[in-house]
Amino acid sequence: MAKKPQGDLIEAAVAAFHKAYAPYSRFQVGAAVRDEQGRIHAGCNVENAAYPVGACAEAGALSAMVLAGGRRAVEVAVVGAGSGLCTPCGGCRQRLREFGAPDLPIHVCDDTGKLRRLFTLDELLPASFGPENLLK
Ligand code: THU
Repeated sequence: MAKKPQGDLIEAAVAAFHKAYAPYSRFQVGAAVRDEQGRIHAGCNVENAAYPVGACAEAGALSAMVLAGGRRAVEVAVVGAGSGLCTPCGGCRQRLREFGAPDLPIHVCDDTGKLRRLFTLDELLPASFGPENLLK
């Protein structure tokens, strides 16, 4: 059977994008994670007047996944506007690493949901450090 298209995941990320709270950067981001049970969890960036305290969209989506009992990310979509690709920041690559395999697909989309580029987690965070590296 063909792999389920990721349209529903991207739709969730676009919906999250529109809910972003980004009054300082004016750069809205939406993210959605599909967990090992096929469920979708979304998040948006939430900024703060104390700038460093702001949170990324991916962090919110992963937090929602964990809260719902999900423990593995099997597919991710990130949505942002602008001419540059809205790839996950360094910190979010590491957050995704905690719950995703090296071949985790990360769909980077524009704010209409059009796929701009597909990466794997390993492409974005090669030779990464994860839970297995802590094993003695
Ligand atoms: N942002 C995300 O939400 N995710 C990323 O991976 C890249 C950056 C947010 C953080 C901040 O609110 C805004 O985008 C501009 O950096």
